[in-house]
Amino acid sequence: MDIQDPSFWRAGAISTTLVMIVVLAFLSVDSMSVISVGGRNVPKYDVINHQIGYAYNWSRRADVPVIGGLEPLFGKSVTEAEATALMRTGKLVIQSRACMDCHTIFGNGAYYGPDLTKSWLDPAWSQIWMPMTGKTTREDAMVEFLMHPDKYPTWSRAMPNLNLSEDEARATVAYLKWLSAIDTNGFPANFGQSGKQP
Ligand code: HEC
Repeated sequence: MDIQDPSFWRAGAISTTLVMIVVLAFLSVDSMSVISVGGRNVPKYDVINHQIGYAYNWSRRADVPVIGGLEPLFGKSVTEAEATALMRTGKLVIQSRACMDCHTIFGNGAYYGPDLTKSWLDPAWSQIWMPMTGKTTREDAMVEFLMHPDKYPTWSRAMPNLNLSEDEARATVAYLKWLSAIDTNGFPANFGQSGKQP
């Protein structure tokens, strides 16, 4: 071995690059199996037919979603195809109204409003918004809030009315319910324990 010889360094560079390409390919495939819909951390869209809980997992030292028994959104079970169509509409609403100019999802976005990743699980729906809107279910209170956020302020900063139709609000609620069922390794930390944390 002669470290003065350029071919020694060339061989080192080439073999390191090749090994890292294999590692990168492995990590990419592994990540996809975790983060795609139906993957290890991300449930299929029809999870909105189920109750979604949130419980501290001692071995992982994080809050994780717990998918429970049937609890269809708006009282009506949907097929996988119907759920997929709802998610598509929900995503389009979130993009077209630029919700991320004020909110974060998975920590991405702006910090004017609260993070929406676990918004479905926010105790404020039953404790504050259900009585405030006069609705008897969390999803109905969410639809009412999303259609008229200016009428139901609960915080020092208010959300403006973004003119969502009822169908758009319902699809957005479906999207938020699915979102809350994603295992985010405990993000955001201490959710629902100490008020809003923008
Ligand atoms: C101009 C900034 C702004 C925009 C744009 C905005 N929001 Fe908000 N949003 C807020 C603020 C501020 C709050 C807190 C309001 C309150 O509690 O009274 C809020 C609250 C919420 C909540 C309740 C969250 C919780 O758990 O407490 C949801 C859900 C929500 N917004 C969804 C949306 C969606 C969906 C969009 C897009 C269609 C959107 N927001 C666009 C500012 C905004």
